[in-house]
Amino acid sequence: MRKRPSVTVAAVDAKALETEALAAIASASTLDQLDTARVRYLGRKGELKQALRDIRDRETGMTLNAVREAIEQALDVRRAELERADLEHQLAEGAVDVTLPGTPVPRGHLHLITQIRREVEDIFLGLGYEVIDGNEIESPHYLFDALNMPPTHVTRSPLHTLYLSDDLVLRTETSPAQIHAMESRDSPVYMVSLGRVYRRDTIDPTHYPIFHQVEGLAVDRGITLADLKGTLQLLLRRLFGEDRDTRIRTSFFPFTEPSVEADVLCFVCDGEGCRVCKYEGWIEIGGAGMVDENVLRFVGYDPEDVSGFAFGWGLERIAQLRHRIPDIRELWNGDLRVIRQF
Ligand code: PHE
Repeated sequence: MRKRPSVTVAAVDAKALETEALAAIASASTLDQLDTARVRYLGRKGELKQALRDIRDRETGMTLNAVREAIEQALDVRRAELERADLEHQLAEGAVDVTLPGTPVPRGHLHLITQIRREVEDIFLGLGYEVIDGNEIESPHYLFDALNMPPTHVTRSPLHTLYLSDDLVLRTETSPAQIHAMESRDSPVYMVSLGRVYRRDTIDPTHYPIFHQVEGLAVDRGITLADLKGTLQLLLRRLFGEDRDTRIRTSFFPFTEPSVEADVLCFVCDGEGCRVCKYEGWIEIGGAGMVDENVLRFVGYDPEDVSGFAFGWGLERIAQLRHRIPDIRELWNGDLRVIRQF
């Protein structure tokens, strides 16, 4: 038979019960263990509930209720702690899960024109040429006078050329880089210079007011047109394929004499004639020639002593021909669907 607890006995039991319950709660290290403790000390069949049911006096009631409150509070505090620890654990686990596949970082690549620019630079570095920078803003002196263009030359017109002021002009070709190179060193000179040029051209499938050129210059003792042809042929074959035939035919530029234009055998029809080469069998690729004696004299070189060749080609033209890009605007409008193809 159960002994009916007196007030004193109940108070002592209550104190012991509280101590025991609080210890159990404190030592619960998982939410499951905590729940077991809750059922044990606050559950319907627990000692405390039984005792509360048997209460006969006010004082015992107050004592037992205080114990119940203390246990409830301890449970709440411990539950919050364990839940936070659980969350922290989960977060830490997630943060270092190195087995999950990473989020791919989209990676870009060089624009086709930059690729061709570097390709050309590499070809000439391999031949022992220097790669030098030019100025996109020039004076008319370097852009026109030094290149043997008379004051009446049509390119000097503001209808053709973008002037920033009377004596500053956006270069229309990379050729002034030749002058700067020769002025700053004695012969021999073997250099290329690649960069942007500007012309007041109306935009169409083969013209854009900004484009890129590669300028080449070789000045040394005994340089001849044969050296020019050999060099151009090498460049064209590297760019368009080793078995591409090339030819040069006469042309005119104020700063070269004789002047030539270089053609590459049409790679669509192999010379048969087709729409790409306009039924010529050959495709024009750019200008070149032997450096005019006036230009050599202008920079203080002696034309009796040295001679040289120079050439200037458009990189967009190379890109369009090599990859059959029908419209130059595709190289400038930044459409990723186009750019990603190269
Ligand atoms: N600068 C010329 C052009 O833009 C090309 C060229 C360069 C021709 C060097 C001859 C020698 O058309």
